[in-house]
Amino acid sequence: MSRNLTFRIFRYDPQQPGDAPKMVDYQLNETPGMTVFIALNRLRAEQDPSLQFDFVCRAGICGSCAMVINGFPTLACRTLTAKYSDVVITLMPLPGFELIGDLSVNTGKFMRELAERLKLWLHPKAQQADIHHLEQPMEPDEAAKLYELERCVECGVCVSACATAQMRDTFVGAVGMMKIARFELDSRDARTADDFYHVIGTQDGVFGCMTLLGCQDNCPKDLPHMQQIAYLRRKMAGTLIAKAKVS
Ligand code: SF4
Ligand code: FES
Repeated sequence: MSRNLTFRIFRYDPQQPGDAPKMVDYQLNETPGMTVFIALNRLRAEQDPSLQFDFVCRAGICGSCAMVINGFPTLACRTLTAKYSDVVITLMPLPGFELIGDLSVNTGKFMRELAERLKLWLHPKAQQADIHHLEQPMEPDEAAKLYELERCVECGVCVSACATAQMRDTFVGAVGMMKIARFELDSRDARTADDFYHVIGTQDGVFGCMTLLGCQDNCPKDLPHMQQIAYLRRKMAGTLIAKAKVS
C-alpha cells in the first residue's frame, strides 16, 4: 500500500510586497521510484502552480535542484522519498544564497562572482597561446586528476553545508578551493604557487577551513574535498615559509 506523504515546504516570494516566510503542507501519494523532484513536479502540476523550485537535467548533472531535505543539503532529483521512514518530508531552500522564491536560490550569481574573484579559468603559458595548436597531449595521470575535480556540478551544497561559509560570506568555500586545486594541478596553467597564495592563502581561503567536513559529507558528486584542501594547505604553507626565508 502506498504511503500518503506530507511535504512541508518553505514558501516565500521576496518579490511580493507584504509576503512573509511560512511552511505550507502538501499531501501526495508515494509512487514507486518517486524522487523529491518528481514529487515537486507533481505538486506544482496538480496542486499549486505557484511553487518555485529549479531543475534542468533530472539526472544529477546540472546541480540546479539542490535544496535542504529533512535538514541536509542535497539534490532533489537524486533523492528517493522511500529513503525516509517518516511520512513528513521538510523542504527548505539552500542557505547562503540569494533567495529567488520558495526553494529556488541564485547559485549562478554566486558561482559567477566566485569565478571572477578567484579567476577560475585557465591562464595558458605564453607558448601555449597559439590558436593553431588547439590540442595538446596531456599525461593520463594528470588528465585523470583534472577530470576528478571537473565533476563538480556547482550545486552549492558544499557552501550550504559549511559552517564557516555560513558565518563568513567572504570565505572561498569548498567549491572555490576545489576549482583552485584544479588549476593548480594543471601543468598548462601559467600561475605560480605565489599567485595562488595571494588568492587563497588567507583566513578566507585554506587557512579559514575548520575541517568540519560538511562539504565532503554532503557533496552529491563525492568529490575529495578534504584531500584537496589539505593539498592546498601544504602548498600554501610551503609558499609562506619560502616567502618568510626571502624576506
Ligand atoms: S563540490 Fe560537490 S557540493 Fe560543492 S558545488 Fe561541486 S558538486 Fe556541489
Ligand atoms: S535537476 Fe539537474 S541535478 Fe537535479
